[in-house]
Formats: sequence, structure tokens, C-alpha cells
Amino acid sequence: MALLSQLPFTVSALLVLWIITVGSVPNTNITSVLCNGGTYTSGDPFTISLAYVLSDLLDATPSRKGHDYYNISPFPNAFAYGHAACMANLTDGDCSACLRSAEGVMNSTCGMAIGARSVLVDCTIRYEQYPFVN
Ligand SMILES: *[C@@H]1O[C@H](CO)[C@@H](O)[C@H](O)[C@H]1NC(C)=O
Ligand SMILES: *[C@@H]1O[C@H](CO)[C@@H](O)[C@H](O)[C@H]1NC(C)=O
Ligand SMILES: *[C@@H]1O[C@H](CO)[C@@H](O)[C@H](O)[C@H]1NC(C)=O
Repeated sequence: MALLSQLPFTVSALLVLWIITVGSVPNTNITSVLCNGGTYTSGDPFTISLAYVLSDLLDATPSRKGHDYYNISPFPNAFAYGHAACMANLTDGDCSACLRSAEGVMNSTCGMAIGARSVLVDCTIRYEQYPFVN
């Protein structure tokens, strides 16, 4: 009986411990944001390729092994190349939140740049009109 009455306490203690260990917050402090000086115009086919690449990076990177993912737009006429990565020890959810933040900072700082890179403490995202590594 004594054991049984301690059960709710044990359960809540475990829950608190779980929140402390698992419920982290990604560090989205900015390390650097770099923008290519060249810009594209809104009618440019690159617009569609870039939107594809960024959306795919945000969708796919968190569930990739090591949270590290490169992609290329599938449309002809204008190619966009992308890369995103999170610290490998982040949860998928924290990786996703960090990348959203990195993309937001990149968009607001770089506008319609033909290439840009946003490096936060816990994640990074980059796109270019040419293939690149890292
Ligand atoms: C992020 O930067 C702010 C301002 O420099 C600092 O106060 C804060 O501790 C930093 N956060 C983390 C998680 O490093
Ligand atoms: C950033 O810009 C791209 C390309 O224009 C757009 O598809 C995306 O929705 C934007 N994301 C944010 C968070 O503003
Ligand atoms: C992930 O690893 C880095 C060092 O590689 C460390 O600074 C950071 O605190 C770790 N984050 C988590 C959520 O464990």
C-alpha cells in the first residue's frame, strides 16, 4: 500500500527528469550570415528552384542521419544547390526549429541574393547557383 501511494510521486519525478534531459532548446544565436552581392529578380526561374531547395532542406534535414543534407532543384533553366546541417546531438524537433530560425535570418538579411549562408550555433543553411561542398 505504501509503495502504491508513492507511485504518483515517482511518475512525476520521472517526468520532470525527462523534461530536463530531453526538452532542450536549440541555440539559435547567430555566428554569421553571408550574402552574395548579386541578386535575382522575382520573375527569374531561380525563384522556383530556390523555394524548392529551401523547403526540401527544412523538410528532410532533421530526419537525415547526422542531420546533414545536400540537395539540388529538379527544374530545368535555373539550378539551386542547397545544404543544411544541425549539430548531430540535436533532436529532430530542435533541428527543425533551428533551421526555421536560420532560414528566417538568411531571408531577412540577404533578401533576393543569388547565394546566401546562415550559420547559427546549432545549425546552418546555405544555397548557391553552383555546386559546393560545406
Ligand atoms: C545568445 O546570445 C545572447 C546575447 O549575446 C546571450 O545573452 C545568450 O546567453 C546566448 N545564448 C546561448 C544559449 O548561448
Ligand atoms: C525564405 O525565402 C524563400 C525563397 O523566397 C521562401 O520560399 C521561404 O518561404 C522563405 N522563408 C522564410 C522563413 O521567410
Ligand atoms: C551537443 O554537443 C556540443 C559539443 O559538440 C555541446 O556543446 C552541446 O551542449 C551539445 N548539445 C546537446 C543538446 O547535448
